[in-house]
Formats: sequence, C-alpha cells, structure tokens
Amino acid sequence: MLMAPAHQAAATTTQDIRRAQRADGPATVLAIATANPETCISQDEYADFYFRVTNSEHLPQLKDKLKRICKKSGIENRFTYVNEEVLKAHPEFSDRKLSSLDARVEIASNAVPELAAAAASKAIAEWGRPATDITHLIFSTYSDLKAPSSDRRLASLLGLRHTVSRTILSLHGCYGGCRALQLAKELAENNRGARVLVACSEISLIAFHGPEECCLDNMVSHALFGDGSGAVIVGADPVDAVERPLFEMAFASQITAPDSEGAITVQHMKGGMDFHIARGVPEMLAGNIERCLAHAFDAVGVAARWKDLFWAVHPGGRRILDLIEEALGLDNGATAASRQVLREFGNMSGTTVIFVLNELCRRFVADGAKGEDWGALMAFGPGVTVEMILLRVASGLKGK
Ligand code: COA
Repeated sequence: MLMAPAHQAAATTTQDIRRAQRADGPATVLAIATANPETCISQDEYADFYFRVTNSEHLPQLKDKLKRICKKSGIENRFTYVNEEVLKAHPEFSDRKLSSLDARVEIASNAVPELAAAAASKAIAEWGRPATDITHLIFSTYSDLKAPSSDRRLASLLGLRHTVSRTILSLHGCYGGCRALQLAKELAENNRGARVLVACSEISLIAFHGPEECCLDNMVSHALFGDGSGAVIVGADPVDAVERPLFEMAFASQITAPDSEGAITVQHMKGGMDFHIARGVPEMLAGNIERCLAHAFDAVGVAARWKDLFWAVHPGGRRILDLIEEALGLDNGATAASRQVLREFGNMSGTTVIFVLNELCRRFVADGAKGEDWGALMAFGPGVTVEMILLRVASGLKGK
C-alpha cells in the first residue's frame, strides 16, 4: 500500500495546504531592464526615410502629413528592426495588398524572443539570483504568431529550468505589459516563493507597410511606434540581503471603456497586421481615467490626492499624456518619466510601460524617493481597455 510521506501528515485540511502555499507579503518588483534593436531613427528624418524605403515619393501630401504628425508627437528618436536591409530583402513588406504574413511571422519568431532575451538577461543579472530560480514566465507580444512561441524560445535562451510555468499573452497591444504584470502579481502572491519573469517584446515589422490615402490613422501608428523589449522580475517576501524590492504592487484593476469597441483595432491579414486608432482615443481615455483611479483607491481604502502620486502612464501618444494630466489636474512634470520614454523611444506598445517603470526607478535612485509613497501604473489598448496597478515605493528605493 502507498503511504503519504511523514511531512504531509501535518496538513489536515485543504485550507491548511492552501494557506501554506500563499505568500505572506504583497508582490514586489525586484528587477527591471530594457533593450532595443540597433537601428535608431531620428523623428526629424523619419518621413524622408519612410517614403524613400517604401518607394512612395509620389505621395507628397501624405509625406507632409506624416511630417506634421511627427513634429507634434513628442518623439525625438525611435529604434526599429525594420531597416533598409530588411526591406531590400522583402520589398513586399511595403505593400499591404501583397501576401507577406508568412515571411513576417518567420522573422518575428526569432527576432522577438532574441530581443526579449537581451532585456531579460539584464534583469536577471540585476536581480542577483540564478536564472534557474525563476518559477514562472509570462511573455506578452503582438508580434509573434507562431507556436511553440516566444515564451518557450526565451526560456531556452535564458536557461530557465524545464519546470518553469509559461504563459504567452497576445494581441493585448499597448496594455500587454500591464496585463502581464497583473498576472505576475497574482502568481507571486498565490505561490509562496514564486519568482515570475515578465517579458514583453515588440517589433513593429508585423504592422509595417507603405502609406495609403485610405488609411490615414496608419500614418499615426507609423509616426508613433517603435521597437523594444522589457523584463521585470516579480516576487513576494523578498530574500534579505539578496533581493532589492523596488515597488510593492498593492492593487490591480481593468476597466473597459463604454462604447469603445471599435476605437482601437488590430487584425492580422495576408499583408501583415492592420492597426486602427480612432481620432477620439485620447479624449476617451481622459474621460474615463478618474473613475478608474477612484475605483482602485476605494478598493484599498486609501484616500489619495492625485497630485501626491507618482505616475507611470503608458505614453500612447503625446496628446494622451496632455489630456490625462489635464483631467486629473496634475502639475506640469507629473508624467515626466512617461514623456522622457516617449521622447527617446516612441510608443513600443505593451513594452513601453516597463521602460517608464525603469525610468521612474532611475529617477528615484538618482534623486531619492523622498515624499513619494503611492503611485499608479496605467496602460491602455484595444477594448478600449484601461489597466491600472497601484504601486508603493518599496524599501529598496527608500532612503537613497
Ligand atoms: N487618425 C487619423 N489622423 C489623425 C489621428 C487619427 N487617429 N489623430 C491625429 N490625426 C491627424 C490630424 O487629423 C492632423 O492631420 P492634419 O495635420 O492633416 O490636420 C494630424 O494628425 C496632427 O494632428 P493634430 O490634431 O494637429 O495634433 P495632435 O496634437 O493631436 O498630435 C498626435 C497628433 C498623433 C501626436 C496626437 O493626436 C496623439 O498623441 N494621439 C494619440 C494616439 C493614440 O491614440 N494612441 C493610442 C495607442 S495606445
């Protein structure tokens, strides 16, 4: 007859077992890192680059429009996987009517996990524990459409153990990073000792094509989107003297904006990904933001003044930051970390919020997190979905 090992005899009820599985403290951010592809394009030169490489110089009015959007974008530089070499090898990428999805998917299936590995290996080094101590991996990307997908490839590039529990998130677009962090919080708090690696990696190659009169919002996405990857390690009950908790993750929420289903859409077609942003998106977000914040702070029972918080807002576009600051009555400079990331890298979809968190962290280390205690991390995407995580500055960033 099979007998239970002696150490199992002490746990009498499923509730006892469950209690023992749970962490004591909240999920915390333990390390953050980012990476970009090598090619960097100045926003001032982007319209010339884009119209030249897509052979579209015969459309001067569209080029002027792109120049106007670039000027107002708040972006100075973006990094991109799509360079002249890639387009020379695949001229079909410039024409949305041609079949090119297979080639794009093939390229992305290597480029996406490799870019993720560049950020994740830095995050693991900063964390200070071996990669084999990672218990869970959550990978978010809209750029990879193949299985086995980027999560599996990343696990093997990093040498994670074969028991690592993997999840791939797709098509969350610009809220993918926040969604992954929210799930990491749940895993860390419900599995004692869990260490969750969140990886986001986006290359806009999947949605790159030439300009067309019919799709003017595509000019907006070509003016805003850049490529990058970000990695975050999340875990509860940090190990003293080994792990440095940067932010506590106090509460997470998701809200779907009413009457917004068609406002941001993404669809894979034979010619790559079709992406649409309606004109009213910044206004729609600004109109819903206070409700989301109030819901989150009510849930934790904290009375917060928006002006006292620190902000990690997804910089989906310059106007989104302008209108959110205005709607919440924030001081000039409240979203400085988001604006800096937008300026230096553009909108890297779901990955961007990880860059913003990293920039906030850098600012707290450089200047000290003196008054700041509570903060809000926010991201938006198709739905229209508004994701939020309430953060608190943790001991690793205090007293610097
Ligand atoms: N679709 C098509 N055209 C658009 C557009 C959209 N969604 N948004 C702006 N434009 C056009 C305007 O019509 C204008 O064209 P024009 O120069 O021919 O008149 C041009 O872009 C510039 O717009 P303007 O209103 O003058 O400037 P702005 O202050 O709004 O700045 C952006 C332009 C794109 C930087 C700004 O609108 C923005 O940040 N948008 C947010 C993008 C977004 O929703 N991202 C979501 C991702 S999560």
